[in-house]
This record gives sequence, structure tokens and C-alpha cells, in this order.
Amino acid sequence: MINDSEANDQQQRSEMTNDLTNDPKFEVSILFNQNYHTDAHITVNQGGTSSGKTYAIEQVLFCLACQTDMQVITIVGQDIPNLKAGALRDALSIYNSSAILQAAVKSYNKSDRVFEFHNGSIMEFKSYTDPQDAKSGKRDYLFINEANGISYQVYTELALRTRKRIYIDYNPNTSFWVHEQLIGRPDVLLIISDHRHNPFLDQGIRDKIESLKKTDIELWKVYARGLTGKISGLIFTNWYVCEQIPATAKLIATGLDFGFTNDETACLQVYKQNGELWVHELFYQTGLTNTDIALKLKQELVSRQTEIIADSAEPKSIEEFKRMGWYISGAKKGADSIKNSIDILKRYKINVTRASVNLRKELDRYKWRVDRSGKTINEAVDSYNHLIDALRYVALNKLKVNNEAKLRSRMPYIPATANRGIFDELINPQGFA
Ligand SMILES: Nc1ncnc2c1ncn2[C@@H]1O[C@H](COP(=O)(O)OP(=O)(O)O)[C@@H](O)[C@H]1O
Ligand SMILES: [Mg+2]
Repeated sequence: MINDSEANDQQQRSEMTNDLTNDPKFEVSILFNQNYHTDAHITVNQGGTSSGKTYAIEQVLFCLACQTDMQVITIVGQDIPNLKAGALRDALSIYNSSAILQAAVKSYNKSDRVFEFHNGSIMEFKSYTDPQDAKSGKRDYLFINEANGISYQVYTELALRTRKRIYIDYNPNTSFWVHEQLIGRPDVLLIISDHRHNPFLDQGIRDKIESLKKTDIELWKVYARGLTGKISGLIFTNWYVCEQIPATAKLIATGLDFGFTNDETACLQVYKQNGELWVHELFYQTGLTNTDIALKLKQELVSRQTEIIADSAEPKSIEEFKRMGWYISGAKKGADSIKNSIDILKRYKINVTRASVNLRKELDRYKWRVDRSGKTINEAVDSYNHLIDALRYVALNKLKVNNEAKLRSRMPYIPATANRGIFDELINPQGFA
């Protein structure tokens, strides 16, 4: 039995949810409508960077959660750091921008990453390490965020346990299981979007995305137009994700690349252990003044005794940090310093912490330029490379250019007195000298 106040509550809530898309603070793009009104079982959102895919799908999912009681919605990312930097951050920003949505949500559990609604619906953010893990639980709606980071096996297990709809989004750097297994099926709707479909972007960001056309047409196709690419000529293939920096690794230096309006200020730390490099991103953010950067360095517990290698194109900033008491130097750039520092870094196995999501993204995009005829030029694409620049600065000042001195013969030592029987009779031992 429902008492009066409960009935009132319910009515109020249903008014609220009906209002959700009309809430003046809950603004939507064309992608929202396309994803909301889909009747396909699977809706694939392929698109360029910042087209508003994740934002729109999550707005739809919030509406679905509010509109029907007891819905279970699972949002899946490659790992927790990726969710935190992407889908979860977007969800929180949607939540914070709408008073009506806030009233419909009972609680948000930060450690479990679950929104619980008054009507019994839940929205959970998850990552799965293997297909077995993905067999637990059932849901009404599934959203696979940045699907190229998730295996087809994990997807299949999750999809099997999804009652209503599946949403998928990704940047199409290459063709993968979504292309091979899903697109073209009758129950699959494909939506291709790019930044021009997102009315909420600054012109500066649009210009930056479009400028890829000048640097690399293949990157432009993928990130500015959302077309399936075949990005080849990646510069670093010698890097791996690690969970953390080993306790015994030795800190080599902190790398710092300055940015401001459209380019992020990027900072990371480079460690060495067993001849391998271990790298951890500290921050990656636009709009930071030098005072802000100093504050961030302190928050990240960067010691004033370890050297910071910074972009030497900003001597005034470097001097300012020196006067603030930091141990800082400019990177030794020269004519061939980009190529040289890349060569140095390619000699190492580079371990990148899982939490370094922006560095991982940059490494996935960092490639040799290709000219109009498709020929690779011996020049790195100069965009989305701020953390990589910071890493190169450390390489230039702190890592050996020439590793060859360490190359020693690995021939086993054979004592001269050893009696090797028939072998010595057949072969003149002097021949070994
Ligand atoms: N409906 C919206 N209202 C407000 N801001 C939005 C909206 N859609 C997108 N944005 C802005 O655009 C940015 C990029 O959108 P996002 O969904 O993350 O792009 P994609 O997933 O396609 O890379 C978001 O971080 C947000 O700032
Ligand atoms: Mg996204």
C-alpha cells in the first residue's frame, strides 16, 4: 500500500523525470536524440574526438534510469583510471549540472562507483579483467565506453547478460571487433559523429582538432571525422602498462612541458630499474599558471632535490621556478633533438603506469608523419604529444645517447686447461683465440 506522502513523492518524481530533457540545465546535442530514439538492440557510436558521444549516451542512460523503476545500467571501461578520466567524469558533470537529476538520485557511492536512484534503478561503472569476471551479474542496459580497449570475449559475456539495449562508443583508429562482428547486422544502428555535432565545444578545441589535417591526414580522418582509419607508423611500440612503479626503482627526473589555453601543461616522472624505464604521469591540464604548477608539484610530492627538466622554449618560466626554489633546467634541445630523443627512448623497455591515461593515449597516437602520397616522413607528428615531450626532455638530459659501450660479447668462457677429449683432437684450440 502506498500512503499519501509516498504517492505524492512518486508523482513528483515522475514529473521530474519527464522534465529531465526540458531542464534548462540539461542541454542536449543531436547525438542525444539519435541515441534516445533508437530502436536497435545495439547502437554503435563511432566518432572523432570530442564529438559528444560519451556525454550523450550517458544523458540517455540517466533518463532511462529515471523513467523506469528498477533498471540496472552497467557502464564499462578498459580500466578504472580510464573511467575516472572519461565516462565517470562526464557522468558526474551531467549529474552536477541538473537539479532534477540530483533529486532523482538517492546516492552516489564513490568507492563502488554506483549511482542509486529513488526508484530502485542503479547505474554502475565497471571494468573487467577477463571474460570469466564478466559473467557475473545481469543488466537492462549496457554501455561499452571506448570499446577498442575491451576484448570481444568480455563484450560477448556482458552482451549475453543484457536484457534491453547496448550502447558502444569509440574512436576508430583501426578496424576491430565492432566492425568485424557487429556493424552491418540488422539489429545494429551505426552513428558516426565528429566535433561538428557537439555544440558545446570551444573554438580553440575545434581548431586544434582540425589542425591535424596539416600534420597528418590519417589522424585527421579518425579524430576530426570519425572515419575508420588504419593508423600506421606508430613511433613507440616498446611500451607496456604496469600497475605501479617498483619500490626499488630509482627516480631519474621529472619532465615538464608548458601549455596554457589549448595545450595541456604536462608533467611526469621517469624512473629506472633493471635497465628499464618506468614512467608515471603526475598531471595534464590546461589553464595552469606557474604558481598553479608549483602547487601541483608540491601536491604530487615532487622534491626540490630531484631535477625537473622543462621545455627550454620558456626560459622566463624556468627562471621563475628557480627563484621559487625548484631544481629545474631546460631540456638540451638541438637541431635533431626530437629524432635523437626518440632514438634514445626506443632503446628501452618503457613501463607506463595504468593511472597514466593521458600518456597512454598520446603513445597510441604518436606516429611518423605521412605525406600526401602516403610515404612516411622521418618526422614525428607534432600534436597530442605534451607528455611525450616531457618524457623526451628527460631522455635528452638524463639518459645516455650511446648505449653501445655496454654491449659485450656473451661467448662463454672456456678454461684453457679443460680436457675436451675428441673435440681438441679434431679442432685446433688456437682457432678459438
Ligand atoms: N550535452 C552536453 N552539455 C554540455 N557539455 C557537453 C555536452 N555534450 C558534450 N559536452 C562537452 O563536450 C566534451 C566532449 O564530449 P565527450 O562526450 O567527452 O566526447 P567524446 O566521447 O565524443 O570524445 C565534454 O567533456 C563536455 O565538456
Ligand atoms: Mg568519450
